[in-house]
Amino acid sequence: MGKYDEIFKRSISDRDGFWGEAAEDIDWYKKWDRVLDDSNKPFYRWFSGGEMNTCYNAVDRHVEKGRADQTAIIYDSPVTDTVQKITYKELLDLVSRFAGVLKSLGVSKGDTVIIYMPMVPHAAVAMLACARLGAVHSVVFGGFAPHELAVRIDDSKPKVIVTASGAIEGKKLLEYMPMVNKAVELAEHKPEKCVVYQRQMVKAEMTKGRDHDWDEMMANAEPAECVPVKATDPLYILYTSGTTGKPKGIVRDNGGHAVALRWSFENIYDVKPGEVYWSASDVGWVVGHSYIIYGPLLTGCTTIIFEGKPVGTPDPGAFWRVISEHGVKVLFTAPTAFRAIKREDPEGSYLKKYDLSGFKYLFLAGERLDPDTYHWASELLDRPVIDHWWQTETGWPITANCMGIEAFPVKPGSSTKPVPGFDVQILDNNGKQVEAGTEGLVTVKLPLPPGTLPTLWKADQRFLESYINPFPGYYFTSDGGYIDKDGYVFVMGRVDDVINVAGHRLSTGEMEEIVATHKDVAECAVFGVEDGLKGQVPVGLAVLKTGINRDEGELQQELVKMIREEIGAIACFKQAVIVDRLPKTRSGKILRGTMSKIADGKEYSVPSTIDDPAILGEVEEALKRIGYAKK
Ligand code: COA
Ligand code: AMP
Repeated sequence: MGKYDEIFKRSISDRDGFWGEAAEDIDWYKKWDRVLDDSNKPFYRWFSGGEMNTCYNAVDRHVEKGRADQTAIIYDSPVTDTVQKITYKELLDLVSRFAGVLKSLGVSKGDTVIIYMPMVPHAAVAMLACARLGAVHSVVFGGFAPHELAVRIDDSKPKVIVTASGAIEGKKLLEYMPMVNKAVELAEHKPEKCVVYQRQMVKAEMTKGRDHDWDEMMANAEPAECVPVKATDPLYILYTSGTTGKPKGIVRDNGGHAVALRWSFENIYDVKPGEVYWSASDVGWVVGHSYIIYGPLLTGCTTIIFEGKPVGTPDPGAFWRVISEHGVKVLFTAPTAFRAIKREDPEGSYLKKYDLSGFKYLFLAGERLDPDTYHWASELLDRPVIDHWWQTETGWPITANCMGIEAFPVKPGSSTKPVPGFDVQILDNNGKQVEAGTEGLVTVKLPLPPGTLPTLWKADQRFLESYINPFPGYYFTSDGGYIDKDGYVFVMGRVDDVINVAGHRLSTGEMEEIVATHKDVAECAVFGVEDGLKGQVPVGLAVLKTGINRDEGELQQELVKMIREEIGAIACFKQAVIVDRLPKTRSGKILRGTMSKIADGKEYSVPSTIDDPAILGEVEEALKRIGYAKK
């Protein structure tokens, strides 16, 4: 039996032994009573009875154990022309003082704090400061519009919001404060305090009594110590798109999360304490939480906070510059970033300017890694390009080629094998396991390993309905795919109304809810179509109210504006067409999947349940007007 098979087998047959050993790499105030607590199935808990502090494990212990002068964070910001290095000792000072700031504003264990920030080290400091106090952070991606922020404020009810005055996104200057003000105005819950990091490029107007200046508060702060928390206490909430307008608040606990990320760092990514690791993502996404902040810092690595883009900041050599300048061993990003580089520099000429001798692996996730991008990247880099599949819910990879365990030959299109701890199984619609090579619904047999979601924030029932009830005894991923005869997993895409745009997870259902509020729209459908750069982009079809006549271009502009204002530019909603009718099944379900296939020019079968097949021809004609549905 190979090393992977042996480790995988033990991770399933001896969960307590396996994760109990992994937990020795974390420092505990009090050891757990039970490794896997299955006393309240299907709400499994890990390390119940244990007490620890995530911030202590990510910062303090490294200072105490010889890494005080090692760089913890490199802030590399081509948009502000800044490179700043922060040692573990300096990070400890910043985090303990900011924890003191939060404490002085009334934040204590169990309180929630929203962090709405661009890619600056202050975001990491704020997250770690919450963890230090046992407060629960909820980071909201800086690209979300006020409405999205307001929804998250109302659900998580923060005591404090931590934000910055603004950012430069690519070449655009963004002001955060007007968005925070608007969100607070829209929300029913009114956070009492706001801490604002004033950046040079834009000055925020402060609201008296509510807003406090980051620098002023830090200058006078009393450092705060780590507060012991239960392993099962929440560390953070991270909202992600579901199929409706109400995002799902994924909960992450402290103990299981620390154990799983620490384990994953050496076993999946093959990164050891002291090495330099870079995730080119954003702190607002799960990749940012797990592999910009917590994973590298729990391991005692150097992590990079990069405020830039793969192209245009200033050129498609940005990634190669950062890798060579900072000695990066592993880069993790989304395939779309590589498609962007390929589009601007197909020959890879920028790469030749840099010394990448220390660079060992490229890991990609966030969307399906299409074989073309895989081949281009692996030929260009001449080193392993590893596709791995996971979700906000799981917090760390479900399938991967585990470089720290045993490297398998790559099969393009597959994210290789289940990661130890994840018992991946493919089921048919009736919950029956399918044969190797047969496509079905991807599930993970319960219990999930540590670090995965124990539930949704204050929504146990929704957790059950979304993930467990479809196939009792299994976690339903909402992805479709298959496992081949060699045990390689191929994840083919979502089977619900969630789409992936440039590695960002978005809900078409939410977009439909917004389009439907337009005064002239009677009904609508939004679905994903293929896009050469972003993987998928949304397209809207609108049926007008009786008697209304509208110019298609004008209506499109209005709908685009509505989505940008409600969700944000990040939704990339740019196209909408008018149709007379929408194709539906006889029971009224809109055939989004069939329309996606029509738009992509793919073969499709006319569903037997359709009420009028002629509508599909009308949809095809409409999509041709905006350049889709080409055979
Ligand atoms: N704040 C505010 N707005 C943002 C934003 C942020 N943090 N991030 C993106 N936007 C805006 C962009 O400015 C753009 O606005 P526009 O329509 O006015 O031009 C819009 O949202 C769409 O952004 P994006 O999809 O990122 O497109 P892009 O053309 O600017 O860049 C890529 C394309 C491929 C370079 C970019 O998507 C990328 O770097 N992707 C990497 C993906 C990634 O990190 N995924 C995280 C999961 S691993
Ligand atoms: P998110 O929660 O934003 O990380 O998005 C999770 C979804 O992205 C998954 O359910 C998949 O649909 C998709 N995804 C992420 N990584 C991959 C991958 N490597 N291959 C295929 N799909 C992926």
